[in-house]
Parts: sequence; C-alpha cells; structure tokens
Amino acid sequence: MKALQTSMATLGAAVTTVIASTAGFAQTCEPETFQALGIDTLSLISVEPVAATDEIPVDHCRVLADLDQRTGIDGVEYAVGFELRLPEGWNGRFVHQFNGGNDGRIVPAVGNLLGGSDRDTALSRNYAVVSSNAGHRIDATPEAGVSASATFGLDPEARQDYGYGAVAKLHPVALQMVEGYYGSASEYVYGVGSSNGGRHALVAAARMPDAFDGLLAGYPGLNLPRAAIQHAWDVQAFLSLSSSLPEALSEADLKVVADAVTAACDGLDGLEDGIIADVDACQASFDIGTVACESGSSNACLPAEKVEVLRKIHQGPVTSDGEAVYSSWPWDAGIAAPGWRAWKLEGSNEADRFMPRIVVLGGPSLGYVFSTPPVEVGATADDVLAFLRGFDIDQGAEAIFATAEGFDEAAMTFMTPPDVDDPDLRAFQEAGGRLMMFHGLSDPVFSETDTATWYSALDNNHGGEASAFSRYYRVPGMVHGRGGPATDHFDMFSALVAWVEEGEEPAEIVATAPAGNPLTGEHGEMTRPLCPYPVVARYKDGDPQHHGSFTCD
Ligand code: BEZ
Repeated sequence: MKALQTSMATLGAAVTTVIASTAGFAQTCEPETFQALGIDTLSLISVEPVAATDEIPVDHCRVLADLDQRTGIDGVEYAVGFELRLPEGWNGRFVHQFNGGNDGRIVPAVGNLLGGSDRDTALSRNYAVVSSNAGHRIDATPEAGVSASATFGLDPEARQDYGYGAVAKLHPVALQMVEGYYGSASEYVYGVGSSNGGRHALVAAARMPDAFDGLLAGYPGLNLPRAAIQHAWDVQAFLSLSSSLPEALSEADLKVVADAVTAACDGLDGLEDGIIADVDACQASFDIGTVACESGSSNACLPAEKVEVLRKIHQGPVTSDGEAVYSSWPWDAGIAAPGWRAWKLEGSNEADRFMPRIVVLGGPSLGYVFSTPPVEVGATADDVLAFLRGFDIDQGAEAIFATAEGFDEAAMTFMTPPDVDDPDLRAFQEAGGRLMMFHGLSDPVFSETDTATWYSALDNNHGGEASAFSRYYRVPGMVHGRGGPATDHFDMFSALVAWVEEGEEPAEIVATAPAGNPLTGEHGEMTRPLCPYPVVARYKDGDPQHHGSFTCD
C-alpha cells in the first residue's frame, strides 16, 4: 500500500527472473538480483540463502549491505549498514525494525514484535524485515572504551542519521529491494521498535507521514536528550547519599518504597493483586514522605535523606530557576524490580565497576551526541561518572537545544519528533497511518508520565479524536521493556495489523504475567486487560487471575 512508487520498468531483469521463478528464493537470492536495481548508493556485502532453524523457522534470503558510505568530519568511515531478510513464503508485507540503545550495530532483522516471545517474530510470520545500525558503527577502539556507542556524535551527519536520517535513507531503498526480489510491491508497510526504537517510530510518524501503514512504538524515548539530563540529575542525587552508586539505595530500601506504594494504591482499582492500574489516583494519594522513619519507628522506613533523593528523582530535573527540564515520574510498584535497579543504581559488569546503565549508556550519549558542541566524556566508567557528577543542569539544558559551527541541528531537533511539545500527526492520519504505543509505569529510563503527557497533547491537538488513528496503553509495574511485577507479555502487533488491514479498532489488549513473574506467586500465569489510555482496568467480579474479571471503563 505504502510501497515505493517504483515503476516496474526500472526494475529490469531482476523482476523478470523473480516472476519466472516459481520456486522462489533459491534462484534469486544472489547479488545480481539487487545489483540490477541500479541503486548507486548501495554496496552489497553479502547475499545468501539461510535455511530455517529452530530459532528462525523460515527459509529466507539474507542481504547484508551498506548504504551511503562516506567519511565523516571526524575522519571515520560511516554508512547505513543494514540487513534485509526476505522469507521464502513472503506474506506481501514489510516491517522496518527500529533498534534500541545508541544504535551502532545491525541487530538481526528478525523483527521482534515486542510481545515477549523471541520466536514469534515478524520474520517467522513471513514478513520481509529490515534492520540497520542507524548510520554508524560502534567504535571498538580501546580509546573509546565505555563511550564506544556514542563517539559518532563527533560527526554531525552521523548524529542526524541516528536521529532520523538513516530511517529516511534506508526505508525507500529497502522497499525497492523487497519489490525487486519478489516482483511485487509490499502491500502493507509497518515499523516496530521500543525505547530508542520507539522514538524512531514516532519520529517516522511525524517526518515520514506517508511511509508507514502501521507503527508500533514501545516505551519510546520521545525526549531522549531531556531524559539524558535526568541521568545526570539522578547520579548527582545518588552521590549525595554515597560515593558508590550501588550503595546509595539498597534493594531493601527500594522494597520499602514498593511496599508503601502498593499499600497506598493497590486497592484503588478494586482489587489488591499487586497491580496498580489506577496510576493517576495513586499519584494523588501516595506521599513518599510517609516512608520516612519517625524517631523510634520500628516499621520498615527510610532515613529522611533517602526519602528526599527519591522525591527528587521522581520530580525530575529542574534548572536553578525552577524550570522543569524533562518530566516527573509516576510512583509504581516496579521500583524494587531488578530492571529498575540495573538502570539507575547497579549494573552487572565488573569492568564498569558495576555502574548502572544510566552511567555507561546514558552518560556518553549525553556528552557526545546530545550536547552541542559535543563533549568527549572519556573512556572509563569512572570518567563518565565524573562527567555526570560535574554536569551543570542549567548549561546542559541549553546545550541540548544549541547549535554550533558545523553542527546545524540541535539534539532536540534531530532526536525528537518535530513539535514534540505540541504534537500533531494530521499528515500521518490523513495518509491512513495507524499508531499503537505502550509504556511501562515503572520504566526507570524514559518517564511514562512524559509519554502520557505527549499523548494527551496529541489528543488535544486532534480535537480529542486522536483515537481515530492511535492508541496508547500503560502497563502497570513494567520496567524498561519486559520485567517487573507486570503483565508484560502481549501481542499488540496483531491488533495493529487487524486495525490497518481489517479496520478493526483495537480496544483492550489481553496481557499475561507468565508463571514465575513476581505477581503470580504460586499461581500459574495470570491475565489482565491493558486499557486504552486514559481508561483504567477495574476489577468487576470473578476469578482474580483472569482478564475477563476486569473492565476497561
Ligand atoms: C534504549 O534504547 O533502551 C536507550 C537508549 C538511550 C538511552 C537509554 C536507553
């Protein structure tokens, strides 16, 4: 439907070969098929048939290639490196897989559908899938060290590619290659990604409104440069408690908070089940001050300085004038989950002195990629920690909006969907696009409140009718991606496809907490409806393990 408008005539001999070949991929999975397309910015690296395995149960053709090779102003060789996988039993559809982190590596193009299964992928459902490094490679030199995934920020075009350029360059080429291979255009075109990949999806909705029939964005890093300032804010707050981040707040401390939030809020949705579905009522009724130790208190409690740090990080960064730089964060039950701690306080890598991911991933991108001019933050986790400790929030809040000689676009321009504070997706809607989004309420990396604020602004700008083309779902208890006391397994992609292709409007999405999740105890798996924002799942009656006992109203 949204396939590239490539005339069949320009596809030449390759098309003829494909059409003539009813056997399919074996005869055509060869470099000549793609060379015949005459794409002069394309450098093929390999084209090979791949036999089905247990992990990837479809025979397919795998193309590895570079697009737009060039030398950056930093003397580094850049290209949009990508992998395209073309299944033998193609279903006529295409998925652009958007990846997470700082990009920089070509994640296998299997098309993870964010549903919780590594095997139920777009490729296994016979979609053609493309995945890229977003225009740069991880810098594996010892000099880069822990900053390996961020040094590309020294080159302005690599920054732009990471922000939006790589998707814009690759998307039409990948569609042309799919069409060249199969001999017909993709009937439906999707984009799927989470975190930074969710950001890619929302940027694509705004910048490429005609390009996708359906976009699925999980826990998007909508305001990634602003969220990176939160990392410095958090680190500074934690360091006020201890010079060792893992020791600033212990697992037991976080459990005190999780238990207190649960005690205050769990029943607000009609059932005490460990899930705080009525998150807004919870924010109004929970006060972190209640966990502070009274003198002589024997209950589980925290010293006042820890309570203040928790209050501060949930409030989010503010300038010395009291202006909010990013967003506040919801109190939720997932704060004691390992996935919360790993990002904020304690990583698992001894070589990084167990520094959390906000330091080893977030710190380098804040300096190299989001600050203009770029700041080289050093190669060791201790260097990055020192950078974050000394980070000036006032100056940093300006640096993400700044331009400089040779760096014409600010980070807030190349990273976020245009008009991120005043969003409008009318062009996407008018082109027939459908968008589905979800975000965990205990995400420690990107604030769910920020996503809800963005979605409310979108709805407002669409006259309260954003649901005509979009849906947003909150996932109580879920941290960054899967994990936490949450029903974190669900198939939103199928709902998106049904909406795009059959016009079936998505309503509640059934989500599962598999056995072994902290929620399920000795019970087997449990299910809940995820409700379209701002609706909350409330207990009606019946089996508390089953989603049918709840309503979205
Ligand atoms: C992510 O994709 O998970 C991510 C990207 C940048 C900073 C933090 C997280």
